[in-house]
Amino acid sequence: MNKKQARLFAIGSTALATLLFLGLTVDSHRQFGKLTNADKITPEVTRGKDVWHENNCINCHTLFGEGAYYAPDLTKITKLRGEAYLTAYMKDPSQFYDENKHRRLMPRQDISEPDIKALIAFLDWVSNVDNQGWPPRPILVTGGTFPGTAGGATQGADSAAAQPPAARPVSGAENPIALGENVFRTAAPACVACHSVAPGVNMAGPSLAGVSARAQQVLASGQYKGQAKDVAGYLRESVTHPSAHVVPGAMYSANGNSFMPATYATSLTAAQLDQLTAYLSSLK
Ligand code: HEC
Ligand code: HEC
Repeated sequence: MNKKQARLFAIGSTALATLLFLGLTVDSHRQFGKLTNADKITPEVTRGKDVWHENNCINCHTLFGEGAYYAPDLTKITKLRGEAYLTAYMKDPSQFYDENKHRRLMPRQDISEPDIKALIAFLDWVSNVDNQGWPPRPILVTGGTFPGTAGGATQGADSAAAQPPAARPVSGAENPIALGENVFRTAAPACVACHSVAPGVNMAGPSLAGVSARAQQVLASGQYKGQAKDVAGYLRESVTHPSAHVVPGAMYSANGNSFMPATYATSLTAAQLDQLTAYLSSLK
């Protein structure tokens, strides 16, 4: 290759790479609308984005892995927590964790109710963006492991950053307890995002270790306020009507309204509820 040929080759390959780069960039931009569900950007979502910026949430939290690493990533938060919990959390975060234990603070920001609703609409829109698996790992700030796994003994709301978990292959597909455990992991929002079955591990919801035996005690105590007649009925009702009888604690409910999502009665099938009840009944 002489000098002239070398120069031509350099210019030619640069031009080719540039064209390729521009082409791919344009192609990516063409897909943004679909990946981000642009048609779902309502005025409330836009308002929520403004509230997010006005309150500098990004100074502590990340979305899509972007932001500050002081507090958990919130990209999928509405897939892990229901509206009741998120509303209560944003009204008064201090109810939900202990500054001494967690050594971090989310300030109370006195956001109005409509603005909190808008924030949740925004975060829900964010959670439905096809982020093509990014960030690749959950951003957990306090070194917790995934909730519901051994060692996932993160307290309070620490496990927020986790992505909704995937289904586990069920061996012995007929076994209702195993099927129920799978529903426990895969319901939307996933039960494991808020409940551990390890004793004493209270996350956004109380530990469900021994819940079956505890249900028996509650039913016999005379304090019980719901409709259930037996343990299975109590456990099923806890899932379909969380506020029928609430576990005491300011971080679990306000004015008798549980922060557990009240959506499972309709989002789960009757068969899934049977399987869940079988699984919960096995937690003795
Ligand atoms: C000064 C830092 C800071 C700011 C600003 C802040 N947060 Fe937080 N936030 C935290 C910390 C720390 C936690 C986690 C506490 C813990 O459990 O350890 C948290 C937790 C949360 C949670 C609960 C996560 C879960 O797992 O349930 C939500 C929701 C949340 N923040 C939303 C917001 C929103 C929305 C804003 C803006 C309006 C905001 N935060 C602003 C520090 C902050
Ligand atoms: C956003 C967090 C959250 C999610 C998700 C969640 N829960 Fe709960 N759960 C709670 C809270 C908070 C309580 C305590 C207040 C109450 O009794 O409702 C609770 C209570 C319970 C209780 C009653 C425990 C007792 O001792 O009486 C059961 C059973 C239960 N949840 C099962 C489930 C199952 C099964 C799922 C999934 C289908 C689930 N939860 C999803 C937060 C959650």
